[in-house]
Amino acid sequence: MNNLAASTPGIGALVQVIDMTKTYNNGLELIYVLRNVNLNIYPGEIVAVMGPSGSGKSTFLFILGIFLHPTSGSYILGGQDVLCLDRTGQAEFRRNRVGFVFQSCDLLENSTVYENLEFPLIYAGIDRADRPARITAALERVNLEHRIHHSSNRLSGGERQRVAVARALVNQPQVILADEPTGQLDRSHGHLVMDHFAEIVSDGKTAIVVVTHDPEMAARCTRICSLRDGVLYEQ
Ligand SMILES: Nc1ncnc2c1ncn2[C@@H]1O[C@H](COP(=O)(O)OP(=O)(O)OP(=O)(O)O)[C@@H](O)[C@H]1O
Ligand SMILES: [Mg+2]
Repeated sequence: MNNLAASTPGIGALVQVIDMTKTYNNGLELIYVLRNVNLNIYPGEIVAVMGPSGSGKSTFLFILGIFLHPTSGSYILGGQDVLCLDRTGQAEFRRNRVGFVFQSCDLLENSTVYENLEFPLIYAGIDRADRPARITAALERVNLEHRIHHSSNRLSGGERQRVAVARALVNQPQVILADEPTGQLDRSHGHLVMDHFAEIVSDGKTAIVVVTHDPEMAARCTRICSLRDGVLYEQ
């Protein structure tokens, strides 16, 4: 495994993480979650991020999703230094470029599956008339079109996770960040999600970062990285 501490030029990279460090202060000491991490991700790639619980995988993904700032270092997304943008600019960038599958799924409760998928489309200013086709297409990708008018409260854990994946796809983002998107799925549905990820990146424009504990799902990715003691290694 190679330590990705050494910076390499990122010509053509969709995501460039440069010398990134993230610390948390727990009142007693500084915890180094990321230590001088460098990573270039190119269109067409699916990058697995593995590592033990608490190793910083979700923190790293939150930084890539511009929900969290690193303590130091740079983050270039689609050629733009996103840490230099103001809050409005960052929100706009996130809305238009990033699809995020949260570890906790985070569906809108007391809302239907349709409403859950419509939300990012409204937020991105997609016309009402164009929304049903996009929502149906995203649900078909995860085999859930028959649940379109179901309340999210009445879904199983695996169905919720598949709705969360469909919601991240519906905006056709350039970068999809998925935090354990197959963690609650059986093998066949896990592979279904990975099949669709492979199909999405085959356009040569999109890249996906997948946090996973499952070596079988990681093997479906084009690259495998792992975080240990704040250091990102590539297999
Ligand atoms: N807001 C916070 N303040 C202080 N420490 C935090 C905060 N958020 C996370 N941490 C700590 O940072 C470390 C990394 O957490 P993170 O959630 O990124 O891990 P993870 O690799 O995603 O773990 P898991 O596999 O269990 O989801 C943990 O030690 C965690 O306790
Ligand atoms: Mg996590």
